[in-house]
Amino acid sequence: MDQRKAKRKVLFHVPKSIRTPYQVLPKCNVPATDLEKFRKKYYLHDKKLGKGSYGEVFMGYQRENWKPVAVKKIQLNCVEMLQLDSGRTLPKEVFFLTKVKYIDGCIKLIDHYTVKQECWIVTEYHQNSVTLGEYIFNNQILKENRVLHLFRQIASTVSKLEIAGIAHRDLKCDNILVDENDNVILIDFGLAESLEKANENLDWAPVNPPPEKDLQNFLIGPVTTWSLGIILASLLIGMVVSEIENPIEIIAKKMDDKNISFLSQNLVFQCLNLNRDCRPSPKNILKHPGLVNGV
Ligand SMILES: Nc1ncnc2c1ncn2[C@@H]1O[C@H](COP(=O)(O)OP(=O)(O)OP(=O)(O)O)[C@@H](O)[C@H]1O
Ligand SMILES: [Mg+2]
Repeated sequence: MDQRKAKRKVLFHVPKSIRTPYQVLPKCNVPATDLEKFRKKYYLHDKKLGKGSYGEVFMGYQRENWKPVAVKKIQLNCVEMLQLDSGRTLPKEVFFLTKVKYIDGCIKLIDHYTVKQECWIVTEYHQNSVTLGEYIFNNQILKENRVLHLFRQIASTVSKLEIAGIAHRDLKCDNILVDENDNVILIDFGLAESLEKANENLDWAPVNPPPEKDLQNFLIGPVTTWSLGIILASLLIGMVVSEIENPIEIIAKKMDDKNISFLSQNLVFQCLNLNRDCRPSPKNILKHPGLVNGV
């Protein structure tokens, strides 16, 4: 090897720790190139699609074909990081987004970049989609069968997640998108956890906690079903039920006022059973006659 080539080889030797894009590096070592890489592939629009407690979501475009994307920016020092067996660290949200990429009804991850102290998560964007909360606000009188069509999709996605061993843990109207064809997409895997760990881990509070929240033998399954019940009730009564302490009375009254069918009410109250052991799993929810045959 001549001297020039040997010199070049040394110049291209980049330490593994710097090459790994997921590692949280001290401020001075943050690879600025990730921003350049992002800019090469995407154009970031300043239109904000939404804001949550952990990040802001902007509209973007893929330069290759000008297809729209959503870019969620999360602060690396505010989110949980995971270390993989390979030694790589990455935000937990990105880890679970990679896992759910092939599950129907879950948002699809496209790319992710470390930019300064943030992680920019690029996902698909669904044209003219709104959150379920906005959808309820825009369509206060929804036909029951339309509600059940939406809810069937939500329960089916959650059931597939359960089969994959994943708990979303933040099922609420703001974390569900509905597109112009009434397709439902589950977003925001920022609190996702493996089912196994979700049953051990109590340092988290669902937005609408079930009555057993203080029990020692915590079980994620019935908590998930409770959240599904709250979402179904919100769709049926045309009002997002959120952070209400004892929601059952209010839900029961509003469903009666709106003449909601016996079958739909029955499904809501099965999911919101005060005894967590009597709540159906998402798989069994899908067998409810209201979801199988409609009302
Ligand atoms: N792919 C997407 N397409 C369109 N809008 C999106 C998309 N992803 C997120 N949004 C919008 O941005 C909002 C915030 O996103 P997200 O829920 O992921 O953030 P968050 O900070 O984790 O929220 P939370 O407060 O629930 O923890 C959503 O409620 C939605 O309005
Ligand atoms: Mg959210």
